[in-house]
Amino acid sequence: MNQLSEFFEELDDSADEASSHAQKRVSQRRESQKREMEAKLFIRAQEISREFQFTYKAARFEEAWLLDSLVEFAEQEWVSDVLRKVKGGKEASVYLCKAGPEIPSAEWVAVKVYRPQMLRNLRNDAMYRADRADLDERGHQVTDKRQLRAMHKKTEYGRELLHQSWIAYEFTSLQMLHEAGADVPVPYTMANNAILMEFIGDEAMSAPALSEVDLEKSEAVTLFERVMRNLDILLSHDRIHGDLSAYNILYWNGDITLIDFPQVVSPKINRNAFKIFSRDVIRVCDYFIKQGMKLDPAKIADDLWNSRGFPSFEPQDLE
Ligand SMILES: Nc1ncnc2c1ncn2[C@@H]1O[C@H](COP(=O)(O)OP(=O)(O)O)[C@@H](O)[C@H]1O
Ligand SMILES: [Mg+2]
Repeated sequence: MNQLSEFFEELDDSADEASSHAQKRVSQRRESQKREMEAKLFIRAQEISREFQFTYKAARFEEAWLLDSLVEFAEQEWVSDVLRKVKGGKEASVYLCKAGPEIPSAEWVAVKVYRPQMLRNLRNDAMYRADRADLDERGHQVTDKRQLRAMHKKTEYGRELLHQSWIAYEFTSLQMLHEAGADVPVPYTMANNAILMEFIGDEAMSAPALSEVDLEKSEAVTLFERVMRNLDILLSHDRIHGDLSAYNILYWNGDITLIDFPQVVSPKINRNAFKIFSRDVIRVCDYFIKQGMKLDPAKIADDLWNSRGFPSFEPQDLE
């Protein structure tokens, strides 16, 4: 993990501490370490910013983090400008960028930059990681014993590897699903801490989530079928989304796009697979039921699952 990431962890740790009255006093040593790290990071960010200037004006911390995450994309001419922040979340922030010469087919691209502490915020990460191989920054399975041990022990280095594994799962899933004809953003490239993909929307406005949209009955029926088709493509390519709902489906020009894949699990391997899959189906159905459709989510989940011939595991309770 780069220094800036550590810096963010430190910030979070000290925020946690501040909330606890007993631990309010941060040791002097730690305080000076933090300052030293902060100084180094800002010097690096300043150096980068001499070469790359972006239209989007971020706050100081955010700018350092952004520059650090995007320098590779800018150097390789995937991105020529950052125009604005689309959304800032606890786990990731998404920015609208101008595509560089390396992407002649698009005017804009979206970059998703992950917060270093996303692992901590991902609810119940063990449930998703159970039985799932960890991937390195190139999307290959980690087999090195030292690295496996570090991840198992969750050392600093191990956490860095785990962080990369989530990002690699998101990127490799997008690649595979895009090739399979699913409605996902076109993935372009990934770096240590960020993914570059097709931007859904236009310069004035990014696509809203389906959850923010009310549909006519006939459009609801069409789009529901479309989501089911996507769920089936996922299943047939050994993937369950794992966090699907109308919040992670974008709506633009009458089309849908599924996003947000770092927690994908395998229907063949994950012992909670059917439960995770059913939850995705139920959440999607909740939205379409609100749009006036009559649906039986449990039956829909069963039918899709059985039609692909997946084994049923002993279900374990989800939190
Ligand atoms: N390719 C994209 N095009 C346009 N907007 C996007 C794109 N990807 C993500 N977004 C926006 O950014 C938000 C956060 O992205 P998401 O991948 O869902 O991350 P998370 O929910 O983990 O923070 C989405 O809800 C959506 O508003
Ligand atoms: Mg999301």
